[in-house]
Amino acid sequence: MKTAIFPGSFDPVTTGHMDLILRSAKMFDRLVLGVLVNPGKSPLFSLEERVDILCRMTEGLSGVTVKSFTGLLADFVEEEQADTIIRGLRSPKDFEFELPLAQANRKLNGRADTVFLATAPEFSYISSSGVKEIYQFGGDIRGMVPDLVYNRMMELH
Ligand code: PNS
Repeated sequence: MKTAIFPGSFDPVTTGHMDLILRSAKMFDRLVLGVLVNPGKSPLFSLEERVDILCRMTEGLSGVTVKSFTGLLADFVEEEQADTIIRGLRSPKDFEFELPLAQANRKLNGRADTVFLATAPEFSYISSSGVKEIYQFGGDIRGMVPDLVYNRMMELH
């Protein structure tokens, strides 16, 4: 059984994330969405909300589970007996950032191979941090996040 981890802060989940989740769910028997517990940051959505949103967004998707993790991703891969880490690439800049992380994860855990998926062009400008900034200044984020996330963000106002 092939298990992949798609790790992230998911604060918030974007339409780009959803595209990658749907695509990678087709490639693996089991896909674990690993939501990072990041005590240093004050997120827009709490850990519980991020997990809940992802659970709702992936309801009915076979083989997909949502879990939170703390500490090293390489250790979470071990706990889940996973083989693969999924990360999306929007640009060469992402690749520059992601390559050493993938290499470090493999050094820390020999079974942790990273597979990069090219972001679909229509989502390549979208990032969680960009969405938050646009939202904070009252810009229109429709289409950048799933409707469920959009509605939750509007409720935060
Ligand atoms: O969605 P993000 O915020 O870009 O996801 C980043 C994430 C969660 C993949 C990364 O921060 C991570 O793996 N954090 C866990 C801590 C860790 O393993 N750090 C060492 C990486 S070599």
